[in-house]
Amino acid sequence: MMDIAQLVKTSWDTTWNVFVKRRPFIFVLNSTLRCNLQCECCFRLYGKQQHTDEMGTEDFVLLFERLKRSGIRVAAFLGGEPTLRDDISLLLEVAKKSNMRTVMCTNCFILPQKIHEIGPHLDILLCSLDGYGDVHDQFRGKKGVFDTVLRSIEMAKEFTHCDIKIWARLHKKNCHQVEELVQLAKRLQIKIQFFPLLVDSKNKKYLEMTPEETEEVYDTIISFKKKGFPIDHEYGHLVSIRDHEPFVCNYGRTSLFMGPRGEIHTCRGIKDHDLCSYKEFVPDTLYRSEKYKQKIKRLKGCNACRQPTVMEFSGNLGIALLKKALYHMRDTS
Ligand SMILES: C[S@@+](CC[C@H](N)C(=O)[O-])C[C@H]1O[C@@H](n2cnc3c(N)ncnc32)[C@H](O)[C@@H]1O
Repeated sequence: MMDIAQLVKTSWDTTWNVFVKRRPFIFVLNSTLRCNLQCECCFRLYGKQQHTDEMGTEDFVLLFERLKRSGIRVAAFLGGEPTLRDDISLLLEVAKKSNMRTVMCTNCFILPQKIHEIGPHLDILLCSLDGYGDVHDQFRGKKGVFDTVLRSIEMAKEFTHCDIKIWARLHKKNCHQVEELVQLAKRLQIKIQFFPLLVDSKNKKYLEMTPEETEEVYDTIISFKKKGFPIDHEYGHLVSIRDHEPFVCNYGRTSLFMGPRGEIHTCRGIKDHDLCSYKEFVPDTLYRSEKYKQKIKRLKGCNACRQPTVMEFSGNLGIALLKKALYHMRDTS
């Protein structure tokens, strides 16, 4: 959790970056494409491929130095599975020393072995859950993953500065389990965020919820939130997902995304959204370029996903940032 002084500084830095310097403040990175699981609907079938040409530790250290100078204040490690990198705790430590808040999204499968080295350098831990019990294990392709997630969460609580959240993507196979998942979050005393599975291939369409299922499931989430369950979304966003309302995506203005070979994009997985390689990344030149401005403009109407990190900065960005600061203030007090 942030203290008040840190909160004021972060809010000021964010406002300065976005509105005065017109540059993003979040850097999302896929530090590896390797994965130890085989999810039924992975963006890239990570678990089924061998990947060797990842960026090395030294490349990251140099990059973080540049990111720090360019106003990046949050480093979010996704994957593949970030805990598979031998140097993950070092990378988190370097990001922290570069004045950034650190976030890691993980399947938790080997987290219990690594939490003691990772925990001290982590501000937000996002633990992925695709359902309760066996539903999760089946979707993730390995028995025992669900139990490991629970064990990881209990172990991570030792790091009291670290905000732990369940990240639950919703799909055909788990949309009847919302109650179990919110009860679980309550029992564990952590927050939960939901988002619909993004299906990007025709043969996985069977996993997509129908519009009616989406409405029903989001009605359920809203009713649990009203009862005080730790559901970490604004009502407005839940309603807009339920009602399939279009929204303005500000992801390009707030964030940059980097793939494991160092390719920088405005957003993950969107065709034609590549900007440059990290080797050619000169932040101020990039942010002034027409290419960058055009891509963030196009992203505004994308509406392909409803990821929490996308939704929380959607709409009027000034209002969204103010709400975020107030949210942290409530959490801090
Ligand atoms: C790509 S994973 C990488 C981190 C880690 N391996 C994990 O499983 O949490 C990051 C997050 O993206 C989500 N994700 C993966 N494929 C997705 C899809 N097709 N639609 C929506 N979310 C997806 C996962 O559920 C996870 O919470």
